[in-house]
Amino acid sequence: MQKNFERQAAMTVDRDFTIAPVDPRIFGSFIEHLGRAVYDGIYCPGHPQADAQGFRKDVIELVRELGVPVVRYPGGNFVSSFVWEDSVGPVAQRPRRVELAWRSTETNEIGMDEFADWAKKAGTEVMMAVNLGTRGIADACNLLEYCNHPGGAKYSDMRIANGHKEPHNFKVWCLGNEMDGPWQFGHKTMDEYGRLAAETAKAMKQIDPSIQLVSCGSSNDHMPTFPQWEATTLEHTYDYVDFVSMHQYYGNEKNDTQDFLACSDDMDAFIRTVVAACDFVQAKKRGKKRIDLSFDEWNVWFHSKQHDDDHMANQPWGVAPPLLEDIYTFEDALLVGEMLITLLRHADRVKMACLAQLVNVIAPIMTDRNGGPAWRQTIYYPFLLASRYGRGTAMLPLVLSPKVKTSSHGEVDALVAVAVHNEAAGELTLFAVNRDLENGLTLRAALRGFEGYELAEWLSMEGFDLKATNSAESQAVRPAARSGAAFEDGALCAPLSAASFNVLRLKKK
Ligand code: AHR
Repeated sequence: MQKNFERQAAMTVDRDFTIAPVDPRIFGSFIEHLGRAVYDGIYCPGHPQADAQGFRKDVIELVRELGVPVVRYPGGNFVSSFVWEDSVGPVAQRPRRVELAWRSTETNEIGMDEFADWAKKAGTEVMMAVNLGTRGIADACNLLEYCNHPGGAKYSDMRIANGHKEPHNFKVWCLGNEMDGPWQFGHKTMDEYGRLAAETAKAMKQIDPSIQLVSCGSSNDHMPTFPQWEATTLEHTYDYVDFVSMHQYYGNEKNDTQDFLACSDDMDAFIRTVVAACDFVQAKKRGKKRIDLSFDEWNVWFHSKQHDDDHMANQPWGVAPPLLEDIYTFEDALLVGEMLITLLRHADRVKMACLAQLVNVIAPIMTDRNGGPAWRQTIYYPFLLASRYGRGTAMLPLVLSPKVKTSSHGEVDALVAVAVHNEAAGELTLFAVNRDLENGLTLRAALRGFEGYELAEWLSMEGFDLKATNSAESQAVRPAARSGAAFEDGALCAPLSAASFNVLRLKKK
């Protein structure tokens, strides 16, 4: 229960103290051939909202609203047994395949060319992944030739024959997926993966030197090989790659929300360790190139796990089965807000990130079966607001916050915050989560060098039951305009409710 706003958190933002420009690609997302993400999600021929290609226009509108600049594709675990050649050419001739990762049947009705078309319609770029699980260098090169080479050779001519005269020109390529994970088909040791990734990268850059490559980092920070995996694999791949990947999902399995909301501190520590591993390798190599981070899978994921294990064990080989359909709560939205703030606070090194995933599968956007509507989950909103107002330069936030006790994270700051300055638009936006479940706090933000900026809008998500969810019928868990903030002695003072996500937008007069 909320007690008061007497507890104060001080935040200082100075116009001269910046972290880095925010790379818009940190607002990326992910579509995997998994469950109802592709079939019944983005693609649903016969639906009243389907366009001539069968893509759902209502889903495209929501993706556009979210402003997602890049979408990772086609997996995920799926990519480790993906045979890309099956997914192109005349649809009637494409084979159906048993899909190993999710024990489903892949119809190949949607493949790479169609996904490239969808991405254009959704106003996004494709971040493509190659199969380094069950396949290798030659297949990765053939795929790259198919996608990016202008023509005049076997696979690029195949693309042209399939109706795509212009190359897709995918700029970012992932060298496999979670290759450290024993669940991965074609799982490898760090030296096996490092060697294969380096040789694949070398060959791919020979075909198209303009691409950027992502070397697989650890699947999460609990992996037994973390962080040695990053150090060892990067020693192999350093000369050829631009990014190392990070993945992390959190869940409130213990039903201890105060502790769950402290997980963004783990994410922060994870990022700092991976940065250290990248810099260690750079120093060891006497290298000039800095390796940046692609946090290309992150989210809350736990609600659906029991259902999915049962489903895959007992009802395998369905087409587009309902898998990973987490229905998100208000507390999940709070943690997603904190995770977005954490990514922004590391804007100097996290240059790409993908909310995993985008539609129906651990997703902000859901579609109802049987001709129903598309709708927004609770986590849609913090992502929307961060993507909309988090562009510009991330500012160094100096925060002095009251503490809150947690069961496994010790005492943590109640306030998680960052500021983003959009100089061109004359806007400064503060993102702030009060993760104390019981106490409000007064945020006192000293904004040095921002004289003449005034509060234009304060949006917050607060006051909901922690377990409240949205549905196709009601999307009540959403932001609302808030009042009660004022400047006092030059500082912006805002009473932040217990368990609240806040976006305070200031504009130059
Ligand atoms: O996003 C769901 C799965 O999580 C992905 O397929 C895999 O990469 C990760 O383990």
